[in-house]
Amino acid sequence: MTEHTVEFVGTGETITVSERQTILSRCIEEGIAQEYSCRVGMCLACSAEIIEGEVEQTVAEKRGLTEEEAESYALTCMARPLSDLKLDRGKYPPSIENDAAGDVAHADD
Ligand code: FES
Repeated sequence: MTEHTVEFVGTGETITVSERQTILSRCIEEGIAQEYSCRVGMCLACSAEIIEGEVEQTVAEKRGLTEEEAESYALTCMARPLSDLKLDRGKYPPSIENDAAGDVAHADD
C-alpha cells in the first residue's frame, strides 16, 4: 500500500495518507480541524488549494468541481493522494469565492 505525505501549509501539520484513503478521513483520524459537511463531494466545504502534488478525485470532478477547478483544488472528502502533497486548507475555487463576494457591499459603491 503506497503512502504519501500530506503537508498543510500555514499550520505545518503533516500526515501520511495511503492511495486508498481520502485525505479527509485521515484528517479526522489525526484530529486535524479540516472543515467538512456532506462528505460526498457536493458542498465544497472541505476544499483545499493544491500547492504541490497530484490527487485522484474523479468523483469530485463529476460533482462539485469543474475539470479546470480540479487541477488546483482538492475536495478532501473525495481526494486520494497520488504523490506527496502540499495543501492550503480553507481555500475555495473562484466560482465560490465570487458568489460570496457578490453578497458583500463594497466601500467604493
Ligand atoms: S464535505 Fe462536502 S464536498 Fe467534501
